[in-house]
Amino acid sequence: MSQRIPVGLIDDIPDGSNTFVEVNGKDVAVFRVGDQFYAIDDMCPHAGASLSGGHLEDGVVTCPWHYWRFRLTDGAWADNPRVKIGCYPVHVVGDKIELEVPDKT
Ligand code: FES
Repeated sequence: MSQRIPVGLIDDIPDGSNTFVEVNGKDVAVFRVGDQFYAIDDMCPHAGASLSGGHLEDGVVTCPWHYWRFRLTDGAWADNPRVKIGCYPVHVVGDKIELEVPDKT
């Protein structure tokens, strides 16, 4: 089962920026690239930095602490895709953004 969490309005997240929402005690970062929205776990698995504070380029966010890079499309570590963080569907309903997450993340 999954649930949808309201993130905000489309205009709340300018192109190239992000926000984050807390889901079941865990932060999920929601990024905007053009008209597309992507959601991945906000906490970097290396040492816990917030990926929402990272640099976004070409659909990849770079961790601000030690520069591990994660793909927004699937949450994979760009340098070793066998390592993945949580990646979640994002739905746009009218002008609203909704994050789809499992009941237990
Ligand atoms: S905390 Fe993200 S690369 Fe080290």
